[in-house]
Amino acid sequence: MSENKKPTLSMEELVSYAKRRGFVFQASEIYGGIAGFYDFGPYGVELKNNLKRAWWESMVYANPNIVGLDSAIIQNPKVWEASGHTERFSDPMIDCKACKKRYRADKMADIDSTDAAELIAALKGVTCPNCGKEDWTEPREFNLLMETSLGAVEGDKAAAYLRGETCQGIYTNFANVVDTARRKLPFGIAQIGKAFRNEITPGDFLFRQREFEQMELQMFVLPSQAGEVYADWKERRMAWHQRYFTKTKLRFREHGANERAHYAKEAWDIEYDYPFGFKEVEGIHNRGDWDLSRHSKYSGKDLTYFDEATGEHVTPWVVETSVGADRLFMEALLDAYDEEEVNGEKRVVMRFHKDLAPIKVAILPLSKKPELSGLAQKVYASLGGKYSLEYDETQSIGRRYRRQDEIGTPYCVTVDFDSLEDKAVTVRDRDTMVQERITIAELPDYLKEKLS
Ligand code: GAP
Repeated sequence: MSENKKPTLSMEELVSYAKRRGFVFQASEIYGGIAGFYDFGPYGVELKNNLKRAWWESMVYANPNIVGLDSAIIQNPKVWEASGHTERFSDPMIDCKACKKRYRADKMADIDSTDAAELIAALKGVTCPNCGKEDWTEPREFNLLMETSLGAVEGDKAAAYLRGETCQGIYTNFANVVDTARRKLPFGIAQIGKAFRNEITPGDFLFRQREFEQMELQMFVLPSQAGEVYADWKERRMAWHQRYFTKTKLRFREHGANERAHYAKEAWDIEYDYPFGFKEVEGIHNRGDWDLSRHSKYSGKDLTYFDEATGEHVTPWVVETSVGADRLFMEALLDAYDEEEVNGEKRVVMRFHKDLAPIKVAILPLSKKPELSGLAQKVYASLGGKYSLEYDETQSIGRRYRRQDEIGTPYCVTVDFDSLEDKAVTVRDRDTMVQERITIAELPDYLKEKLS
């Protein structure tokens, strides 16, 4: 990505762009929406799938010692006891006694701590954004696990939880994967999937939702390997973000002792410069032996690994990288946005990396005349099924180019009247706006090379 100074979108502009261009809609919008839930529209689902594919390829396909998994969202509730979530997976909340509105205490106090005394001290002078009073309850812990119930008979239903993080299904399958995939330490299991948290104050668009997607890698290591594997993955994950997004908008931040999750021995965030400042997009954690030792204790199953070098059974440690697909999605939209002046007019262009662009190629017949449509549809068919295409024959060609620029389509293919004679089309590059004449026969290979 270029390091040129690009305009930054405000939150309002981002939300409005995402809706106007069919990326993100409020969930159940026709009923007034529901706080903390969003739907991804036609371009949004493409962008999100591309982000997930880019992550999966860099994890599972690029590393011989990493395999994939897709575990269930609902697990035996004991999983969440063992993981510590039923007891400790909480955020501190405070209520305004005057207007009864509820907030996250650490956000309201603007400190990276969940310590009650520190929160109370920091809340001095902070007033309720709703009613303006300073009349807070004591901070109380609010559990974030989302509950549901299983079974058909009323009164006989069993409580269960929607997973609060995807990685627990990885730990519970540790022995299955060791047995079936025959992996030696260090090895990793990667998973992409939905997670759910009963966030006290969902907000900042996709940043803090109640249903979201995580992409998690759990590296199982010998205790002696943890430091090196941690340092390696910390750098690799930052390099991955930098491959797609502006370097100066990314940074590391280490978690303080009062901020670390209950399982973490060491925790660093990768932060992106969102409109509301640098905030976490990805967490990299050294989880020690917390996960496998707890699951072993609660399940009564042996989750140790036989180390052939020493002839001993050890409980592997876990090094985790966990990125939110939705926060990454915001990062991708914000980072791609650019404006420039072309012939006295503003051109909005989403400069997505080609791997991420929701639509790769737009096929644009110059007019709706049947002879041009017929040829343009043949061009579409010659490319169809290989990557995401769009066919558009409405409005002037200039407006159609702008539309494609605004959704970040790297190439527009225009079929004009000369095409009927010379069997060639014009290919326009999104970033340079340079146009090239390419024969229809050569087009599939030409685009394949450009997009690879
Ligand atoms: N397994 C470790 C774990 O879940 P986390 O820091 O709580 O760690 C990891 O979450 C990532 O999941 C975060 O960096 C963030 O990108 C994403 N995430 C967490 N809560 C979220 C929420 N409410 N809405 C959207 N994304 C969220």
